[in-house]
Amino acid sequence: MKIVCIGGGPAGLYFGLLMKQLDPRHDITVVERNKPYDTFGWGVVFSDATMDNMRQWDAVTAAEIQQAFNHWDDIELKFKGRTLRSGGHGFVGIGRKKLLNILQARCEQLGVKLLFETEVESDADFPDADLIIASDGINSKVRNKYAPVFKPDIVTRPNRYIWLGTHRLYDAFTFVFEKTEHGWFQAHIYKFDEHTTTYIVETPEDVWKAHGLDQAGMEDSIAFCEKLFADDLQGHKLMTNARHLRGSAWLNFQRVVCEQWSHFNGRAHVVLMGDAVHTAHFAIGSGTKLAIEDAIELTRQFKELGDSPAQIGQVLERYQSLRRVDVLRLQNAAWNAMEWFEVVGERYADQLPPEQFMYSMLTRSQRISHENLRLRDKAWLEGFERWFAERAGMTLPAHVPAPPPMFTPYTVRGVTLKNRVVVSPMAQYSCVDGLPADYHLVHLGARAMGGAALVMAEMTCPTPDARITPGCPGLWNDAQRDGWKRIVDHVHAGTDAKIGIQLGHAGPKGSTNAPWDGAGADRPLPDGNWPLIAASALPYLDDGQVPREMSRADMERVRDDFVRSTRLAAEAGFDWLELHCAHGYLLSSFISPLTNRRNDDYGGSLAKRLRYPLEVFAAVRAAWPQQLPMSVRISAHDWVEGGITPQDAVEIARAFKAAGADMIDCSSGQVSAQQKPTYGRMYQTPFADRIRNEAGIATIAVGAISEADHVNSIIAAGRADLCAVARPHLANPAWTLTEGAKIGYTPMPWPRQYLSGKSQMETLFAREKAQQAVPAYKEPA
Ligand SMILES: Cc1cc2nc3c(=O)[nH]c(=O)nc-3n(C[C@H](O)[C@H](O)[C@H](O)COP(=O)(O)OP(=O)(O)OC[C@H]3O[C@@H](n4cnc5c(N)ncnc54)[C@H](O)[C@@H]3O)c2cc1C
Ligand SMILES: Cc1cc2nc3c(=O)[nH]c(=O)nc-3n(C[C@H](O)[C@H](O)[C@H](O)COP(=O)(O)O)c2cc1C
Repeated sequence: MKIVCIGGGPAGLYFGLLMKQLDPRHDITVVERNKPYDTFGWGVVFSDATMDNMRQWDAVTAAEIQQAFNHWDDIELKFKGRTLRSGGHGFVGIGRKKLLNILQARCEQLGVKLLFETEVESDADFPDADLIIASDGINSKVRNKYAPVFKPDIVTRPNRYIWLGTHRLYDAFTFVFEKTEHGWFQAHIYKFDEHTTTYIVETPEDVWKAHGLDQAGMEDSIAFCEKLFADDLQGHKLMTNARHLRGSAWLNFQRVVCEQWSHFNGRAHVVLMGDAVHTAHFAIGSGTKLAIEDAIELTRQFKELGDSPAQIGQVLERYQSLRRVDVLRLQNAAWNAMEWFEVVGERYADQLPPEQFMYSMLTRSQRISHENLRLRDKAWLEGFERWFAERAGMTLPAHVPAPPPMFTPYTVRGVTLKNRVVVSPMAQYSCVDGLPADYHLVHLGARAMGGAALVMAEMTCPTPDARITPGCPGLWNDAQRDGWKRIVDHVHAGTDAKIGIQLGHAGPKGSTNAPWDGAGADRPLPDGNWPLIAASALPYLDDGQVPREMSRADMERVRDDFVRSTRLAAEAGFDWLELHCAHGYLLSSFISPLTNRRNDDYGGSLAKRLRYPLEVFAAVRAAWPQQLPMSVRISAHDWVEGGITPQDAVEIARAFKAAGADMIDCSSGQVSAQQKPTYGRMYQTPFADRIRNEAGIATIAVGAISEADHVNSIIAAGRADLCAVARPHLANPAWTLTEGAKIGYTPMPWPRQYLSGKSQMETLFAREKAQQAVPAYKEPA
């Protein structure tokens, strides 16, 4: 085959040499605009895992790279006058020049033609090629030429960064954070040969501008960075090698994703590779890894399907479908890591103490969990756990190991929860006349025995017409109060769990079936419907019942109904009260602009839309005992264009905080039937994180939190204070006890009646773990 690689970066060179090795008869040329030893950049890093992969494909280059690279294990943080370090992270650093020179030499040795100082205008420059690799980097001309085919999605990120070097040598991947009068700067620092270290300085655009760096030339920018990081640099200079750059030396990262990776141009197949088709932010250090792995995968497909021109189409299809998935996974992790560095100044740096800041930084990509950190550096993690437990108010003798963060206590007002797990409120649709009965005693009682610190009863309604379905519980009369009291007393007498009630009014989503009845959830009852009220006269479903817009008199009545229920809840002895302002129900229908179209003082701006929910909150708070906490559940994202955004959610949280809320329970969606949520593990936790650290109020994370490892990582990183777990508690009332045993947390107290099950479960899990034990796979943090 005749193959041309446009661009002699890691992708083009490595693919060239792998294909030549596969069959020396291939005629392969790599065309590069630069001179052989003229390249941009300092060092690049990749993981031990990438090195293993390279070893399998070309042992010669792998051995040379191995000789030239710097391997190190530690990550060091310099922050607020402290230096913290953790180990076991396994990185490889190599000079970009050195890497390219090794690849160039190997290409020459194998007979790949290298054509330097040649600018390629287009793939049409190579009319007789069978296969053209567009490995021409992030600004790929070939990708741009066929943009309608490749459909690139290019996002320019807000932070500015400058890629510098220094001769100060470091023995860890180092992060330094410095605050100026305008905001935070961070440096990402890693040594890549015996003389040189990469030093990337990054800051948000507004901080960069406030320092006049948009007007500064290269020398002034370097002088600025040298002064800012003088303590760290210890007299060493910063250097540039950005000759190739036009305009500002400060760049914005561009995230590239392409829908289609290859194209037949009428004569040859053209395929994108490396940065031309996808980029990964340097916060995760994997752009070169991706480029190398693209080259490996394409070669593997030629090897498996046949390396002849006739096979190219099929090979390229397989290459795209296999690589896209891996690349997207890594890009997601890189995106999380990148976003962490974009918001670190406003969200974490001022808020978190150094220990927790370090933890948050190490888990920024959300690929590294609590137990993964334990595998990397047990001593560091145990030290962190001790620090965390002591901050949570525990006094631990030196010989007693600290519990994982999930099992630390949490105090709010006069209530101390024994751990961080909440049974999330879950409607059971199993009442008659709103009366909680034996079913609820068993259901909630079992979950209170199951280890969670707080069991929330399902949404409970202040009046019959406030119910979602005829089976929903209520709290408008003494019989219901007494029904609840029986359950509350049982929980208090038989367990050390707390029990909370969620008060809510269904508003526009009322008068519907239980999920298993009639036409299913959210659908009007076949008969016996009651009239609905809402912020505006808008049905939840197009063919649903249309509610009446609430009048001021309605508002006062409903507010007073909430207050009556609150008093009854206090009499029933509940420990916690949550006001339901989420999921499109009555109070939520005021908050979202999608459901509130009012023209009076309760519609319009967010502040006005919040007026009524805040009025209800204030009335409930005043009626609820002062020593008991109140949380507010909100939909932090409507997942619909024009609806509530996570940024609005921060404002909503601030308003409830000012009104006296103790916690925000951060759910999302169910406000509009048009919603398009992005589900995934812990998918709503970013809202809890943002609200907690931007609005400065404690949060409950909820949504697809299904393992102790999730809870530990969320709580430890300060992304939330409590984790609510719903569906896993339907399958397993003793979810918390089970998860504790699974991670080997044996001090976990069990109900005394169940103790003989404890040691058996622990032994079974320990045996299972020992059988599954595999060496830890390390990827860059
Ligand atoms: C600040 C920063 C830090 C980074 N740190 C890391 C890191 O630590 N680890 C990591 O893995 N990655 C890192 N990267 C990313 C890494 O540099 C790229 O992901 C990687 O180089 C991609 O390889 P590539 O071969 O696809 O593209 P490139 O390395 O960009 O190579 C493309 C080549 O094509 C040539 N070319 C382009 N157009 C033409 C043309 N028309 N004619 C002829 N030649 C052309 C260019 O001169 C260039 O040599 C970092 C990037 C930045 C910006
Ligand atoms: C059967 C069921 C009933 C629910 N009822 C309520 C409810 O009454 N009030 C509420 O705020 N959320 C309710 N939810 C939402 C859960 O509290 C939780 O936010 C959601 O299920 C996501 O958590 P999970 O991924 O752990 O299940 C319900 C969820 C389920 C599965």
